[in-house]
Amino acid sequence: MKEKVLKILLEADDFVSGQKLCEELQVSRTAVWKAIRRLQEDGYRIEAVTNKGYRLTHSSEADVLGQVELERALEPLSWAGHPVIFKAQTGSTNEDIFALSEQEYPQGTLVAAAAQTRGKGRRGRTWISPENGNIYMSLLLKPGNDLQPVQAPMTTLVAALAVYNALLELDLPETLRIGIKWPNDVVVSKEGGEFKKICGILTEMRMEEMEIRDVVVGIGLNINQTQIPEEVISTATSLKIAADRTICRTELTAALWRHFEEDYEAFLSAGDLSPLRETYEGALVNRNREVRVLDPAGEYSGTAKGITEAGELIVIRNEDGKEMHIGAGEVSVRGVMGYC
Ligand code: BTN
Repeated sequence: MKEKVLKILLEADDFVSGQKLCEELQVSRTAVWKAIRRLQEDGYRIEAVTNKGYRLTHSSEADVLGQVELERALEPLSWAGHPVIFKAQTGSTNEDIFALSEQEYPQGTLVAAAAQTRGKGRRGRTWISPENGNIYMSLLLKPGNDLQPVQAPMTTLVAALAVYNALLELDLPETLRIGIKWPNDVVVSKEGGEFKKICGILTEMRMEEMEIRDVVVGIGLNINQTQIPEEVISTATSLKIAADRTICRTELTAALWRHFEEDYEAFLSAGDLSPLRETYEGALVNRNREVRVLDPAGEYSGTAKGITEAGELIVIRNEDGKEMHIGAGEVSVRGVMGYC
């Protein structure tokens, strides 16, 4: 009932009388009133005016997340988020996407969840995903012959850039810096402090003979979380903690996939990251900073300079001045003084 009332209010953009809601939904005034109360408890701002009815007042500070809102926010996009499936809780949105791909769901299918019970992180780690104001989502890509398996990891950098660009659109404090820690951690720094991670991306690919069968881009974004677990407090934060305000998860989701659509298409046409390289390097917090390359074949330090068109990190090695190109997935890179 709540969803049905919300849909009518969203579509109306003005007052809708209680009478009209009752008639359209074939329910009593009490049922309508209860649904309105529930929506208000969920964070929706709904004005109730005698003789006029109910009106939804939009506020980007209201954190709303649900099937109806996501569908509406993603509607203007060409293919990303078509369809979108919202789940209050799931195992892993990456796993959900693989299952939907089996059922012939198209490229662009998006699963978004408010909580995960088996969230997956990079390098076999777990992505702790309780219901805490964050968002966990995965997008299905079916590039066919447009993408070769060796190019697939670059999709992760495209996604990091999309998150970065979407965050820049938010009205955030000027003292908040947003950046990317190579290859795909989106990080923020508050008032000149250390950069901390607010987003992780896990791209997974499945092959069929010699071709890519499907790719899933999974993004976990710490948005309105207010408590950070002690174990990760030195390296992780949330947007709300950093920006000191609530962010609308639906709005951010739509902005993120809008950027992704555009950048992914540019990437596919070029066959590499050349069209995105400049913007990516502008966001790269490691740039011109000392990094420690944790290469299993021998660790070394150097200065990060940027990325290649394939998304490798360019590092000038301290010991001999040699230009090293580091592939994501091969080694880890840490800041000499801290996480970045
Ligand atoms: C990382 O380790 O930095 C990557 C974390 C990726 C987590 C996201 S949450 C949505 C999607 N579903 C998963 O199971 N993992 C990814």
